[in-house]
Amino acid sequence: MATGGKNIALFVLVFAVYASVCCCQTHQSNVCTYYYDARYSEPQGNLANCTWYSNNCCCRRTEVTSVASSMYPLFGATQKCRNVLNYMMCYFCSPEQYLWYYDNRVHVCGRFCELVYRECGSASYEGVAIASAYESGWDFCQAQTYLVSDELPCFDYDPKVFGGGGLVKGCREALAGLALLVLIINFRYSM
Ligand SMILES: *[C@@H]1O[C@H](CO)[C@@H](O)[C@H](O)[C@H]1NC(C)=O
Repeated sequence: MATGGKNIALFVLVFAVYASVCCCQTHQSNVCTYYYDARYSEPQGNLANCTWYSNNCCCRRTEVTSVASSMYPLFGATQKCRNVLNYMMCYFCSPEQYLWYYDNRVHVCGRFCELVYRECGSASYEGVAIASAYESGWDFCQAQTYLVSDELPCFDYDPKVFGGGGLVKGCREALAGLALLVLIINFRYSM
């Protein structure tokens, strides 16, 4: 009987650890400052693009379809270039826009602009390379009507979105596993 009680307590603790490690961050509903309709972020299934926001999202399914068509037809863009630009274009879906979308402007991080410039400099639009059309990442972002700011919070690139996040995710899982192990050992010794 006592063992059964302890097993249940252990089960509850395990569940609590996993819930706090895996799920807590994803469902916080935030106000969407890009939209005027007092909208809040929520999960969105079947996003055609910007899918990394589907757990918690400010845009709605139908609004994303127009993103792809509004992007410049770039010539000679590498995959990395397309990824960083794609990420930049999806700002209106971000549930964190309340932090950096105000005064009707995206406040984008200078380092994100420089990253795009570096990755896309050799890609060209209507025969002109990005690197010759703009002097810098700052220049490029200003031309998109973004406000470049290095003060936090600013809209920044998340490299985990297009792969390369395996390690971070793996770390989180390993940490949860370790917490679990510590719990189990504690339980065994307290019995
Ligand atoms: C999203 O749109 C970008 C820009 O047009 C495109 O490069 C990318 O392949 C699209 N992603 C998906 C999943 O359709």
